[in-house]
Amino acid sequence: MKYFKFCFIIFSTLFALNAFAQSILEGGDDKYQPRVGQEGKDVVWVPTNNELLAIMLKTAKVNSTDLVYDLGSGDGRIAIAAAKDFGARAIGIEFNPEMAQLAQRNVDRSGVGDRVKIINGDIFVENFSNATVVTMYLLPELNIALRPTILKMKPGTRVTSHAFNMGDWEADVEIDSPAKAFYWVVPAQVAGEWVISGMESGKTILKLSQHYQKIGGTLQVGNELQPLLNPKLDGATLSFTYLDRDKTSHFVMMSVNNNELKGLYKSRSYNDNVITGKRL
Ligand SMILES: C[S@@+](CC[C@H](N)C(=O)[O-])C[C@H]1O[C@@H](n2cnc3c(N)ncnc32)[C@H](O)[C@@H]1O
Repeated sequence: MKYFKFCFIIFSTLFALNAFAQSILEGGDDKYQPRVGQEGKDVVWVPTNNELLAIMLKTAKVNSTDLVYDLGSGDGRIAIAAAKDFGARAIGIEFNPEMAQLAQRNVDRSGVGDRVKIINGDIFVENFSNATVVTMYLLPELNIALRPTILKMKPGTRVTSHAFNMGDWEADVEIDSPAKAFYWVVPAQVAGEWVISGMESGKTILKLSQHYQKIGGTLQVGNELQPLLNPKLDGATLSFTYLDRDKTSHFVMMSVNNNELKGLYKSRSYNDNVITGKRL
């Protein structure tokens, strides 16, 4: 009995030591072991917890058609998970050369070298405009500095940030557990006046105001201005309802392509009619 107790204590101690060693080596290998909190160019290294990064990628609906960029990619874990667990291609941009080399070794060890690349570079210099998803764990002021670049990306690009928001660009989704994270969809630029063709009322003027993804406005139907009801902008998809002069409601949904709109609206007879729009 004493012998079994002795074996149990030895085994438990070895197990605890192994777990401790694993936690120190988290993200590191025999060539380089980064320290949580070590200096980076604009922000220190703190890795995102695996549970949270999976929730962030899931919220962004990452899939095999995506190209994910992790800005300040650390040990490469977000880029690796995007490829391994969600089937995406991914690129990590990391300023610290030793960290970037470690991340590339982690990529190769994970067997996703054909879909993941680590660039040793500066997120304020490298071009990530072809991303369909951007992930980051930076600082509030870095998010704000990157915001104009992100807002110029293709409408519909998804963005998720661990811990920090984007100032007055409100998030579409807030994640609260196991830690704080945010999610946005880059909105198309729609503010201004548009002339819509194809509606029963003939040529119709649509006026839109915009604050990031929040929009409002009016539709001129005949001589009357109708407010847009429940207006929404989801990336490049614009939708609203309006009441015509007989108080019949019509649902409109259009996609935005720079200075052109194209979509459908429900006519009085509840048919879907094709409508188009041009910026005035
Ligand atoms: C908080 S860590 C996040 C790491 C990883 N994205 C994650 O969530 O696990 C930030 C990383 O950004 C890197 N970094 C800091 N400034 C950078 C810059 N200007 N360009 C590229 N990487 C940078 C740091 O070296 C660090 O690895």
